[in-house]
Amino acid sequence: MINVRLPAPFLKRIREILADEFEPFLEALSEPPYVAIRPHPIKWNWTHKQLTEHFGHGKPVQWFPQAFLLEERPEFWKDPLFFGGAYYVQEPSGLIVSYIFKKFGSPSGLVADVCASPGGKTIQLLSLLEKTGFLISAEPVPSRYPALEENIIRWGMLNQALVRADSRAFASLPNTFDFVLADVPCSGEGMFRKEPKAVKFWRPNTGRKLQAIQRQIITNALITTKVGGYFLYTTCTFNPEENELNAQWILDTFGSAVQSIDLSELLEWNISEGLKEWQGKEILAHTYRFYPHRVKGEGFFLALFKKTDVINPSTPISPYQGFEYKHVDCHIPFDLPFDYKVISSKGKHFIVPTEFEGILRIISNLPVKYTGQEVFCGTNKPAHPLALLSEPPQASRIALSYEDAMRYLKGNVPVELSDNYALVEYMNVPLGWLYKSGTPPRTKNPLPQSFRLKRSLPL
Ligand SMILES: C[S@@+](CC[C@H](N)C(=O)[O-])C[C@H]1O[C@@H](n2cnc3c(N)ncnc32)[C@H](O)[C@@H]1O
Repeated sequence: MINVRLPAPFLKRIREILADEFEPFLEALSEPPYVAIRPHPIKWNWTHKQLTEHFGHGKPVQWFPQAFLLEERPEFWKDPLFFGGAYYVQEPSGLIVSYIFKKFGSPSGLVADVCASPGGKTIQLLSLLEKTGFLISAEPVPSRYPALEENIIRWGMLNQALVRADSRAFASLPNTFDFVLADVPCSGEGMFRKEPKAVKFWRPNTGRKLQAIQRQIITNALITTKVGGYFLYTTCTFNPEENELNAQWILDTFGSAVQSIDLSELLEWNISEGLKEWQGKEILAHTYRFYPHRVKGEGFFLALFKKTDVINPSTPISPYQGFEYKHVDCHIPFDLPFDYKVISSKGKHFIVPTEFEGILRIISNLPVKYTGQEVFCGTNKPAHPLALLSEPPQASRIALSYEDAMRYLKGNVPVELSDNYALVEYMNVPLGWLYKSGTPPRTKNPLPQSFRLKRSLPL
């Protein structure tokens, strides 16, 4: 809901674009933003009725019915299931990425999300991959990277790697990925209702400044897309300079090496076609806009391209310091329901399913920070990411009440253990470990600080 004044140049431009729909657009901005949840595909197989009991009324998101559009935004921090990665909170318009990936993506292929943090779309892509598919998600901004890693740990999937680098790193892997998403940094006009601070950062020239970075990201994303693969460009702004003009620039620059994909079926859901002309420039690319007065979601833009020929970097790519790792022996005191190797890189240990060894060689060109999930070696302290795996370790389990689950998330020990280790769970979803350590042995809670509940207990 907007309670700040929108900048006059923005209003002038959007009035020109929307004409008769300008007033309904402004009215929609005074409504609360919509929110949806994407249930975890393995951890949390709930029916619509159960979702309604848990969240109150809601309905399936039109373009991705597995996600549930809520009538009101709950206080997610009060829900232990959120901490267990049973669902991810999604902005509904952005869930169109799932629709597009389901139609054009390769679930068993190699996929890249080149602008990934905090990870909403990474979670979507991972959730649609088969076990043999692999996702690489990149985020260059150090302060934004930790949120991505936390979300990946909560989601508990192993077929992924996180890279802390900007899109240039991908140009060193030409013709590699079956599907590439670039959800680029943008002026954020579509988020004005959801995040009013976006209004504060907006300047008349923000879009034009970002256009150069966006075109660099697009070029690298297209280089790394396989011939025959798809490149999805998305923004959360209404600015044509960052939207249609970039989509048309792709056609003008890469000519016959790309094909713009017609997605006119989206119009059925009240998603709008993008502009056909802006300030004298004809737009031939197929582009699509989400307006908050037309759809139950925030402002969003997309254009999908198929790569039809090789695209080479215009200048040689200087090599990145890639992913250096070695195999290590590491005793994990639980059985895991898959074959794995443990690798070590820069002092951290990761558990990686055996079938991804070939992929690790491919991505050794990229500055990988995290892959598979982290484990601890040489200590009896269990690693939190193992507790949140979508296929959890075979360990004894303790079901917690709501009050005890919240106490556990705060860092307390709500029950004493008789065994050395136990997974604690709430409504069948593991939240983390308890383990025994010290002399005499005492029950401890190894939940890392960043995963603990930061607020006072709602009890
Ligand atoms: C719109 S946000 C991505 C949101 C994310 N896809 C999601 O759904 O949660 C764009 C991200 O791109 C990152 N970024 C900034 N410059 C970049 C660059 N040159 N290459 C790649 N990513 C960049 C920003 O730090 C930001 O986290």
